[in-house]
This record gives sequence, C-alpha cells and structure tokens, in this order.
Amino acid sequence: MNDMISNDEATHLVELARTAARHAHAPYSGFGVGAAVLLADGSVVSGANLENASYGLSLCAETVAIATASAQGRLGEIVAIGVVGGMIRDGAIAGVDVVRPCGRCRQVINEAAQIGGRDVRVHCAGAVGDAVTSYLLSELLPEAFGPADLGIVVSRS
Ligand code: THU
Repeated sequence: MNDMISNDEATHLVELARTAARHAHAPYSGFGVGAAVLLADGSVVSGANLENASYGLSLCAETVAIATASAQGRLGEIVAIGVVGGMIRDGAIAGVDVVRPCGRCRQVINEAAQIGGRDVRVHCAGAVGDAVTSYLLSELLPEAFGPADLGIVVSRS
C-alpha cells in the first residue's frame, strides 16, 4: 500500500466507480465491478464488467473503462483508476471487502502506464464502507512485461 497517494482522489474515484458498477452486466457470476479512470486533465471515464453467455468472453470493468478512454484517443492520459466490486444483491453491489484488479487488468493498466510514461495510481474498495487501499501499479505488477521487452518505445510523454 502506498501512503503518499491523495485521499481525495481515492474517495472521488471510488465513488464514481461505485456509480459505474450499477451498470455491471454480470448475470453469470453475480459479481459486479465498477472502474473509474482519472485522466490528466481531471476528467473521468468509467466502466463496468460486461459478461457474456460464452463465459470466457467476459470483460472486466477496468478493461472496459480503459478501452473507452483509448477509444477517445486518451490512453496515454490515464493517471489513476478506482476499482470497486461486490456480489450483486437487490440490483446493487454489496459488501465491504476491498477488490483489487485481476492479473489481466493489471497488464492492461500497464499498457496505459507505459504509453503515458507514468506509474498509475490504483485505488481499491468494496461496494460500501470507508476502506480504501491505494497502490501504485508498479506495486501490483512488479517487473511487468511491456513494450520495452519487444524493443518498442511507446511513451507519448
Ligand atoms: N472482474 C472485473 O471486472 N475486474 C477484475 O479485476 C476482477 C474480476 C469481473 C469479471 C467477472 O465479470 C466478475 O468480476 C467475476 O469474476
């Protein structure tokens, strides 16, 4: 956990991620996830998990949010992401347990980090409650595989 990260940013992104989780399409797992991506200019792009009857095609909330930012030409502007999740009860996610990005999403966040030339801040929380755990991506995915392993320089910064 990284103590040097702003509480206000974490609280803001967790709140927006909780709002985004209302649009989770998760009838198979019953587990809703919301993500809110903060861009360098202060704007936020959000997403929720999108499951599929062909289970393996399901998309995580973080991936949906980052793909949406990328579709707006803003992949390199991502500075932070808030992630929340919980079992869906009565149409809303529930539970206080902190949810952290899956391994695949950490790799997807890393692509944004590499393009933007910055270590992305990752704020994790449950569906309700004040508990927020904040990390740098480099803590969640140390020694990451990235463009440099392919001999490619992608940073736009
Ligand atoms: N899920 C996410 O959206 N993000 C993660 O980082 C972990 C898992 C989703 C995928 C699936 O729809 C549900 O949570 C249960 O695994």
